[in-house]
Amino acid sequence: MSLIALDRVAVRVAVDGRPAPKTLLAELTLRLTEQRIGIIGANGSGKSTLLRLLNGLVLPSSGTVTVDKWDTARSVREVRRRVGFVFTDPLSQLVMPTGREDVELSLRRSVRNARERSRQAESTLDRFGLLPLADQSIYELSGGERQLLALAAVLAVDPEVLVLDEPSTLLDLRNRELLRRTLAGLSQQVILSTHDLELALDLDRVLVVDAGAVVFDGGPADAVAHYRALCAAGLPATGAAADAARPVLPVLPVLPVLESPQRAPRPGQP
Ligand SMILES: Nc1ncnc2c1ncn2[C@@H]1O[C@H](COP(=O)(O)OP(=O)(O)O)[C@@H](O)[C@H]1O
Ligand SMILES: [Mg+2]
Repeated sequence: MSLIALDRVAVRVAVDGRPAPKTLLAELTLRLTEQRIGIIGANGSGKSTLLRLLNGLVLPSSGTVTVDKWDTARSVREVRRRVGFVFTDPLSQLVMPTGREDVELSLRRSVRNARERSRQAESTLDRFGLLPLADQSIYELSGGERQLLALAAVLAVDPEVLVLDEPSTLLDLRNRELLRRTLAGLSQQVILSTHDLELALDLDRVLVVDAGAVVFDGGPADAVAHYRALCAAGLPATGAAADAARPVLPVLPVLPVLESPQRAPRPGQP
């Protein structure tokens, strides 16, 4: 298994109209060694930025990200050979008209012989139960089928690490379950972000990200509890707690309701 290491990494971007760069990720140092790792956190907290660092889609503004001995800023090809990335929306990743062509495209660099490439594409599609759909337009597949196809296209080249950015967000319950089982059966190291806390509970280690910082790193149950507490703390209070916290307003006198409201005469009218 590859060792992904982040050494004092921070990500900052210049934003128009702001004098100082915006910090997307505050400085962090991590060794990602567990087989199944999750990242949870609110929208905009920095999950995708953190995942994109792992295969050089985002480069650190300071510090280094390495996959084994390969630095993502200098050896992006070596890094991407080891670390496959699956986007939330498979349509942003599937570029060919059919699944077969897409998987063959993934293999074009590693398998030069066309016949061998076609054989390997077929065997990958078969492994995911996608062979009957191999020649169907990707637009005529269900969301779950497309997500599996994107996964198959990335796994065709046999990366050592699979990074998935919210892979179940667009899926219904049945397809989410299928994805969960597929991921559980993979030999690769899997690193994913998710809002699916059930999926997070299946993992070995979970990081909680909040406002660009890793605020918890540990076992899944504790991480989910931390995240829930964080969300609850950010919500307006309701129920008894809210009643206790609400300031007591003075009772205003009830004004008499006029049965026939008196209209002011318009100018010029009697
Ligand atoms: N290239 C960029 N320029 C400016 N802001 C960005 C850029 N990329 C991401 N952001 C901001 O960084 C924050 C974290 O984004 P992201 O990592 O996509 O969060 P998440 O995946 O948790 O929703 C968000 O506020 C987002 O708007
Ligand atoms: Mg995201």
